[in-house]
Amino acid sequence: KIKPVILSGGSGSRLWPLSRSKYPKQFLPLLGSKSLFAQTLERIGADYGFDAPLVVANEHHRFIVNEQAEKVGVSEPQVLLEPLGRNTAPAIAAAALLAAKDDPEALLLFLPSDHVIMDTPGFHKAVKKAAEAAVAGQLCCFGMTPTRPETGYGYIAAGEALEGCDGAFHIDAFKEKPDAATAQGYLEAGTYSWNSGMFLFRADVILEEFRRHQADMLTATEKALLGARKDLNFLRMEEADFAAVPAESIDYAIMEPTDKAAVVPAEFGWSDVGSFTALADVQEKDASGNVAHGDVMMEDTSNSFIHQGDGMLVATLGVKDLIVVTSDDAVLVADKSRDQDVKKIVDRLNAEG
Ligand code: GDD
Ligand code: MG
Repeated sequence: KIKPVILSGGSGSRLWPLSRSKYPKQFLPLLGSKSLFAQTLERIGADYGFDAPLVVANEHHRFIVNEQAEKVGVSEPQVLLEPLGRNTAPAIAAAALLAAKDDPEALLLFLPSDHVIMDTPGFHKAVKKAAEAAVAGQLCCFGMTPTRPETGYGYIAAGEALEGCDGAFHIDAFKEKPDAATAQGYLEAGTYSWNSGMFLFRADVILEEFRRHQADMLTATEKALLGARKDLNFLRMEEADFAAVPAESIDYAIMEPTDKAAVVPAEFGWSDVGSFTALADVQEKDASGNVAHGDVMMEDTSNSFIHQGDGMLVATLGVKDLIVVTSDDAVLVADKSRDQDVKKIVDRLNAEG
């Protein structure tokens, strides 16, 4: 059985002011009536043969996790709580350490909580293929066909076919978040795929890679887990212990340096809705390429994303390539090409209080 681990500690800062630290994007009903987090849980339900899921979340979100899980029939899931975010590598190390206590060779499927997958059977098929590579000792990712020079993603150069695992390939190079020129080059080369951000590997294999490439991070995470306390369905790590863990993403910490990576190229209608452009791209556009939500009036407006989230009408005239998002207490107006930089505004707000 494969044990799904859902990472839901992100803050979705590129979707501000829709996404807020108290209620980040994975918990919002961005597409359809259920949140992306709830949809993720549904995709890995027991009906499909998966083991019970583990959720790794920020402690401020623990009751949102319980409430949303309950709604999709997952009562009191096992939740590992982080007192603060240290990015995905420590979250993955902690989950692997926890799972290895029960079964050192446990097959772990790490899933971001904020993705859209249109083709669930296609997703399950790809997971099955990746499981073979994982059993064989590989850190397996899922390769998506790139469609734009996105700088917010990891890029994978696939190498030779993985022996004995149909549909899986060795990874020759893994490059996380390249600059715009490099991303453009990868796109034109036509030989790279996007990393979807989902990973499948054995607990013992990833822990060995942590020992090799991130020994300090692993030791600090072990210590934080040792001091963790059980409370309801939550396992809570202490702030002082977890704050001492170096913060880094799994992509930089392990996937770039490792020589044990494999990729399963797949198509299952994937999007990470990481930015307003990505959110617009998975929705129906009007004839001028606009996506509008709520009370919006557009005149001579094209290729824009307009979201009205407070009481006031939003009207646009003679503009193109704009992001306009209103909420109760903040309005964002941005050029569409700067969708990745919305994060900078959130960073400034956090720094300036
Ligand atoms: N538990 C926990 N703790 N989860 C976290 C934390 C944390 O500190 N930080 C982020 N997450 C969760 C997010 O909620 C999200 O579901 C997932 O981990 C990935 O984090 P992101 O911050 O969204 O990563 P990214 O989008 O910049 O990059 C990753 O995903 C891309 C595809 O969407 C990388 O894996 C890229 O290589 C990949 O292309
Ligand atoms: Mg993301």
